[in-house]
Amino acid sequence: MAIIIKSPEDIEGMRRAGRLGAEVLDYITPFVKPGVTTGELDRLCHEYMTNVQGTIPAPLNYAPPGYTPYPKAICTSVNDVICHGIPGDKVLKSGDVVNLDITIITQDGYHGDNSRMFYIGPPSILAKRLTEITYECMWLGIAQVRPGGHFGDIGQAIQIHAEKAGYSVVREFCGHGIGKVFHEEPQVLHYGKAGTGEELKPGMIFTIEPMINAGRREIREMGDGWTIKTKDRSLSAQWEHMVLVTETGYEVLTVSEGTPPPPAFITGAQAAA
Ligand code: MF3
Ligand code: CO
Ligand code: CO
Repeated sequence: MAIIIKSPEDIEGMRRAGRLGAEVLDYITPFVKPGVTTGELDRLCHEYMTNVQGTIPAPLNYAPPGYTPYPKAICTSVNDVICHGIPGDKVLKSGDVVNLDITIITQDGYHGDNSRMFYIGPPSILAKRLTEITYECMWLGIAQVRPGGHFGDIGQAIQIHAEKAGYSVVREFCGHGIGKVFHEEPQVLHYGKAGTGEELKPGMIFTIEPMINAGRREIREMGDGWTIKTKDRSLSAQWEHMVLVTETGYEVLTVSEGTPPPPAFITGAQAAA
């Protein structure tokens, strides 16, 4: 099965979806404070998507083979939760770090998938460094994207930077092609060797979403069927953007007013206008 090359119309739809997905993160940012519950963040995002944007939360009732339907609108992954944390009664407290992963579906069926990290009060030195290194990992992966490159180029850039810092790359979850389908080909690994894997071609759209652990890379699955934690209970961080392969390089699609800028060492960053 080949990787889909998006039509100009699809690309335009994915720019809109990416912006709307990013705007949910902008909207929720001021609410991400000590004392708020993850369930309240979910409720607010869900309302914003439905009532303000007219978008649909893609996670709600999402049920890939072997999974029970996901019960909420967003994912809230706190501290040692790697990904797919289910919002609920958990109260965020000073010193926590949380990833909010938002995926919207537009009226015309396009997915906008992205995530950011948030500090609850002042972060520990470790949490801040892990979060920043993970952000650099995502951007080093993005900066590899160009026609004629390979998916392995992205994985290698991420893995080298994470491991040089003493951290580990989660293997069980990866980035993915995306469009009118939430998760489609290819799998975008966050580790690997440059020059390996499929060739990148203009019109491909996929996510880059490295999950980086402060300790060992092994995971633990929780009994709720979704939540994934680090086996050694070390902190984990993640950032996610959707990226389009252009004729000359890349375009980041999940951009809004509040999108954090790329790290200073990334030159020539191209974002959707
Ligand atoms: N947004 C996640 C990703 O980046 C997927 C979440 S699936 C859910 O691919 F069902 F847990 F929401
Ligand atoms: Co996501
Ligand atoms: Co994703």
